[in-house]
Amino acid sequence: MATHPGGLTTAPAPAVRITSLVREFAGRRVLDELDLNIAPDEFVALIGRSGSGKSTLLRVLGGIDHEVTGYEELTAPENVSVVFQDARLLPWKRVLDNVALGLPGADAETRARTALAEVGLAGRENAWPVELSGGEQQRVALARSLVRDPELLLADEPFGALDALTRLRMHALLKQLCARHRPAVLLVTHDVDEAIALADRVVVLDHGRIAADLRVDVPAPRSPGTARYAALRDELLTLLGLDPTAGAEATPEAGTEPAADPGAPQPTDSTPKNAKGSDS
Ligand SMILES: Nc1ncnc2c1ncn2[C@@H]1O[C@H](COP(=O)(O)OP(=O)(O)O)[C@@H](O)[C@H]1O
Ligand SMILES: [Mg+2]
Repeated sequence: MATHPGGLTTAPAPAVRITSLVREFAGRRVLDELDLNIAPDEFVALIGRSGSGKSTLLRVLGGIDHEVTGYEELTAPENVSVVFQDARLLPWKRVLDNVALGLPGADAETRARTALAEVGLAGRENAWPVELSGGEQQRVALARSLVRDPELLLADEPFGALDALTRLRMHALLKQLCARHRPAVLLVTHDVDEAIALADRVVVLDHGRIAADLRVDVPAPRSPGTARYAALRDELLTLLGLDPTAGAEATPEAGTEPAADPGAPQPTDSTPKNAKGSDS
């Protein structure tokens, strides 16, 4: 935000501007006059019960869904990258080629190497996807996204299939990458703690509408032990219809996702889904 000499305060134009977005499937309304803005370098986490419309919204913003029912305004950057729960690497291409695939320019391979190094996979350029753990495959997916320098990064439960320790490592990595590349981010997660750890704002979707839009005003390091963290966590769990006093086990139940993502592109039916436990 910049303040001009005259005292006028201006904010940069949002990366994402959505007003009154409606998406229906066979007459059933899944996104219901939804409004959402995301600033250019803002990290927004999107939570909500299973079926509330999270993936539908991401598919619209990712340009994967071309059959939006209606909107007043629907603006997203041209350069958008999407990361899914499974890495969706091409199994017949080596890791480096997966990252460089479709990348324009004579320096594509060099940039792909740099991106792999950034996600901690220097030296694994010639590995086949099947040789990587689930966490490593997601690192490749992140490298493939970020090498394109997206203005908007969309991520649909990208760490949902990873074990807890690997997920924490991926949080740290994603934070680091976002600080460096500064894309706007919309991250779908069913994990309230993941949302609080990573996001500037948490948006709660309920029946295709934004039910709450909360700034994460928890000072770093965002430790679950602090009162502000606990208060925000309780508020979010309550918004998800969960009992905050039921303990940590309540969290994952918030959004048990359907395994398949019907509208998302699949490079191949034989895409490996062998998320092995650990990342290291
Ligand atoms: N291609 C589709 N055809 C018909 N219904 C769909 C399609 N995609 C999503 N839906 C429906 O829209 C609702 C929201 O789905 P989705 O956006 O995947 O929810 P979430 O990601 O929040 O779990 C669900 O009821 C789902 O069955
Ligand atoms: Mg979903």
